[in-house]
Amino acid sequence: MQRVLSGMQASGKLHIGNFVGALSNWVRLQDKYECYYFVADWHALTTGYTEPQALKESTTDLLINFLSAGLDPDKCTIFLQSRVLEHAELHILLSMITPLGWLERVPTYKEKKEELKDKDLNTYGFLGYPVLQSADILIYRADYVPVGIDQLPHLEITREIARRFNYLYKKVFPEPEGLLTEFPKVPGTDGRKMSKSYDNAIYLSDPPDVVEKKIKTMMTDPARKRRTDKGDPELSPVFQLHKIFSTQEEQEEVAHGCRTAAIGCLDCKQILIKNVFKTLEPIWEKRQKLINNPDVLQEAIDKGTEKARKTAEQTMSLVREAMGLI
Ligand code: TRP
Repeated sequence: MQRVLSGMQASGKLHIGNFVGALSNWVRLQDKYECYYFVADWHALTTGYTEPQALKESTTDLLINFLSAGLDPDKCTIFLQSRVLEHAELHILLSMITPLGWLERVPTYKEKKEELKDKDLNTYGFLGYPVLQSADILIYRADYVPVGIDQLPHLEITREIARRFNYLYKKVFPEPEGLLTEFPKVPGTDGRKMSKSYDNAIYLSDPPDVVEKKIKTMMTDPARKRRTDKGDPELSPVFQLHKIFSTQEEQEEVAHGCRTAAIGCLDCKQILIKNVFKTLEPIWEKRQKLINNPDVLQEAIDKGTEKARKTAEQTMSLVREAMGLI
């Protein structure tokens, strides 16, 4: 069976954009591939090294989200990066053969540094972010890596490092391919891309009343000021969410109602609320169960970590041998 690996950086809560864009795809893949999914807590430290308490909270929240969104510990391997020390070992070995120039020209390096200007990111760890990510992927000799477009530069450098290793020593690593999810951008409540930094996100951990309130106060077509004004659904982020959460018939119904002013924005939002609830209800239910019963979470992670370690250890034997470590 072909192998899939992916990770998510533990930095803040997950929102429904992360769910439809990434996590729900992971859930689908677990039936078709041998999947490894992990929380990248070391990666979170590259930018969040001054906030250990925040890291702790996001790590737990992310693990809860993994399980409550439908990742099944009996079908896939779920673990924590920092518990599989082999990732660190491979990271240091790959750092020996990774030219500095490759790291300096990864586009995300300069972009992120610029974006997070208030933090001191002149660190060794931050520059090495893609080497650590390469180690995460190569240590499982993964065939596919489901990621968003923003991660493609990291995948490219992973392939370059794999190629260089295979050329310098012997062929240990396959060159992994990205699996892009085809999903429309999920808009936030203000119409911009849903993002925790814009304060416009609906979180998987939001209780029902908060989700309802966020949708009710969402922006719509700005030209539709009064109930009697006709609107253009394509200009409303509410309609973009209908495209993701509502049936074809419902989409046609609200689009027509908007264009003719047959329905008001609140009517349209009520239908969306009903459908978002339908998606979130099973997640809320599982989340509550896990919070009431933390042992279940702990057991799943322990089991996943052990399995991941076994696979990682097999690769490391080959790597150590290839590099002359005895
Ligand atoms: N860089 C990824 C992100 O920001 C997280 C990540 C770390 C990852 N290691 C990985 C993703 C390995 C895929 C494979 O989301």
